[in-house]
Amino acid sequence: MQYSAKVMDHFTNPRNVGEIEDASGVGTVGNAKCGDIMRVYLDIDDDGFIKDVKFKTFGCGAAVATSSMATELIKGKHINEALKLTNRSVMDALDGLPSIKVHCSVLAEEAVRAALWDYAEKKGISIDGLEKPADDIHDSHHEDLQEED
Ligand code: FES
Repeated sequence: MQYSAKVMDHFTNPRNVGEIEDASGVGTVGNAKCGDIMRVYLDIDDDGFIKDVKFKTFGCGAAVATSSMATELIKGKHINEALKLTNRSVMDALDGLPSIKVHCSVLAEEAVRAALWDYAEKKGISIDGLEKPADDIHDSHHEDLQEED
């Protein structure tokens, strides 16, 4: 399996690892198939900008690298901007992933959306284009991206 230099960099030196106390939003998603779990913490200011973001990933190297890159891509952005994050944009920023590792990037996208969802629920607001995320991406609409072991 061939990983890009960027994937290796974000795997060996992940950015934004940790947790945020009293976070504005926390999202946890897992993939029952591989057993990996990702949790994203957001600190969002009154204007809807993501002041800080941290993550914890109990998962494979690609899951660590994609969550690291995902947090980098949304840090400082407005929530409407963060909502546009896709697993594709995370993969592109990492110069690609091997096809059997695509689902790891889906976990990163869904963890960010789950944290945004939690934020919206806590605030009692609805964010355009944001739907309730699945707890387990294996059962979600991303099924087509799953690879057989
Ligand atoms: Fe499941 Fe990477 S193998 S997230």
